[in-house]
Amino acid sequence: MRHLLNPLDFTVEEIDELLEVAGDIEKNPSKYAHVCDGKKLATCFYEPSTRTRLSFEAAMLNLGGSVLGFSSADSSSAAKGESIADTIRVISCYADICAMRHPKEGSALVASMNSGIPVINAGDGGHQHPTQTLTDLLTIHSLKGRLDGLTVGLCGDLKFGRTVHSLINALVRYPNIKFVLISPPELCVPEYIREDVLKANNVEFKELGNLDEALPELDILYMTRVQKERFFNEEDYIRLKDCYILTPKKMKLAKPDMYVLHPLPRVNEISVEVDKDPRAAYFRQAQYGVYVRMALIMKLLEVKAPC
Ligand code: CP
Repeated sequence: MRHLLNPLDFTVEEIDELLEVAGDIEKNPSKYAHVCDGKKLATCFYEPSTRTRLSFEAAMLNLGGSVLGFSSADSSSAAKGESIADTIRVISCYADICAMRHPKEGSALVASMNSGIPVINAGDGGHQHPTQTLTDLLTIHSLKGRLDGLTVGLCGDLKFGRTVHSLINALVRYPNIKFVLISPPELCVPEYIREDVLKANNVEFKELGNLDEALPELDILYMTRVQKERFFNEEDYIRLKDCYILTPKKMKLAKPDMYVLHPLPRVNEISVEVDKDPRAAYFRQAQYGVYVRMALIMKLLEVKAPC
């Protein structure tokens, strides 16, 4: 039985296969409409979500399966003190696969160690968000036709942004990837990402405070929200929350084929005027999330793609 806790749980070849299946699902959705008939997905969300939970549910419904679950800790027996280990043992009696989001780092790992069904990490605190990464990889591949040889700018909250940590982990495995890490010093990437991921893999990167300076060289700009829910004090959040705002004027500094991604939700970091720019790809990205989660559910349930 396989779980997905970290993007590195899959080899590059397995990720390539997933992206290929997701691409076929996009082109031929009806072919996949019954491949998971009779299967059930549990969505156990202890933290708020719009895209991840609903795209997982849409993915399973599109495959012919059913969904059950909870969308907040308060509406589950976690509110009465039940442990994750006990919860997943019980969910294993009700469902065939589980997507779990939790505010504590390592929660999905604990669940996987006590589970009778595949567990998908749908975000664990400030740590990892591997299915967002699969979404991001599919989006980049669809837009640029490749995942290698790209200069990727990551901008905003690189400290608490789990999507950033997962995406860096995944992209360092492709040749000639360069990163430009754009953040205020207080929100720079954690030391383990700089040392154990970037430097350990000899990946070219630089850290900047200024978005304008970075924009002309980027192939992809990945904007992120300042993660209010992970701050210990509100004063710091208020001081940092609007540190970067992407505007049409700034977009003039970028290449004509530079795409803007954002895992969403957006707060202020991309002005709504940018949405009209054909390089704004964040809503397409949310759509790709359904295709790749369909491919992932099939892989973990060992359901073969129909001919
Ligand atoms: N991108 C993402 O994880 O969005 P949600 O928090 O709405 O699931």
